[in-house]
Amino acid sequence: MAPALDVQRVRKDFPILARTVRGDKPLVYLDSAATSQKPVAVLDAEREFYETSNAAVHRGAHQLAEEATDAYEGARAAIARFVGASPSDIVFTKNATEGLNLAAYAFSNATAKAQHGSRVDPRFILGPQDSVVVTEMEHHANLIPWQELCAKTGAQLRWIGVTDEGYLNLDELDVIDETTKVVSVVHQSNILGTINPVDLLMARAHEFGAVGVVDACQSIPHMPVDVPALGADLVTWSGHKMLGPTGIGLVWGNQEVLEAMPPFLTGGSMIETVYMDHSTFAPPPQRFEAGVPMVAQAVGLGAAVRYLEDVGMDTVAQHEHDITGYALDRLEQLPGVRIIGPASNVSRGSAISFVVDGIHPHDVGQILDDRGVAVRVGHHCAWPTCRRFNVPATTRLSTYIYNDNSDIDAAVEGIVAAQEFFGVA
Ligand code: ALA
Repeated sequence: MAPALDVQRVRKDFPILARTVRGDKPLVYLDSAATSQKPVAVLDAEREFYETSNAAVHRGAHQLAEEATDAYEGARAAIARFVGASPSDIVFTKNATEGLNLAAYAFSNATAKAQHGSRVDPRFILGPQDSVVVTEMEHHANLIPWQELCAKTGAQLRWIGVTDEGYLNLDELDVIDETTKVVSVVHQSNILGTINPVDLLMARAHEFGAVGVVDACQSIPHMPVDVPALGADLVTWSGHKMLGPTGIGLVWGNQEVLEAMPPFLTGGSMIETVYMDHSTFAPPPQRFEAGVPMVAQAVGLGAAVRYLEDVGMDTVAQHEHDITGYALDRLEQLPGVRIIGPASNVSRGSAISFVVDGIHPHDVGQILDDRGVAVRVGHHCAWPTCRRFNVPATTRLSTYIYNDNSDIDAAVEGIVAAQEFFGVA
């Protein structure tokens, strides 16, 4: 059993949690699936970098450039260690959306280059005879890049459906077949909370020689994840949902696959040699890091993973599991409230979507906000998933290491107040 989390002690590390909102209401922050709050250690690390070592990395012979490069590469090493990976397999991007575009553009760029005679790895060449497989619970970031790829190449987009209980319908795994060139799936759904058996999906992808991609934005911040052990070829996630700054995301890649992929963004820093009419590219990860990168953000994210390591990811996961169980129990006891996603605490994370009979989710959100409770309302960038459950939108609460059961109680009191206000109690 992991040691219990001292939430009151953790909260002291997050200055924003001490503020009030909407007048004098203490902030109850239940929107960490959208973005997490930041501890002082992360804020200090970014500030200290700018105060002492700011310079462009991998350029310049001066001391500051050397220190900045060490700080940037040190952050890469810390993040790699956190997910059980090698630093050379970690690429920094602007965010996870850019990471997923980096993956999708590898295919469209390779396909376009092949059409004009360049030698490219055939795994990345797509045509009308090929298929791309996603699921019906993808965030738009893991759907639209693949829709665009299919529109450009003529490949067919397929998806694995979702059961009424909010799990993947594994009876539909046969949509992955010999035509499939890429399978890109979410590890933990941002809207349903479902944790998917990605190892199974990746194994099926590899059976047919497809490239396997995993969106791990909602899992890596909340549980120990050994990224190479997911069995994927590429795994993407963001820094800002795991206590780090905005403006930084990650792609882990199997080195052999990264080596075979054409670059996404091109320009300075990603080259080996440049002539007027052609260029050759640096090996990964530099090949995928064109331009002056987000150095301070990397340093901040390095501090975030050290903070999470100090807390212990087993402790984080146990805490999330307990609070999710408590929230599910409390919501289920409320008449007129329906959970969209797994109703039990099995294979699910802490993002809980729900609808309240007779009240639009935006109105629920507004009444909660009036009471200082911050939740997300809308389609959560997973519009097709809302359609699957015949709801226009949901209210979603999502927790992290600075939340405890009293925050869930505040949300539940707010929902009851909304029901009374709208006369649907
Ligand atoms: N992807 C983030 C969310 O689910 C923004 O809210």
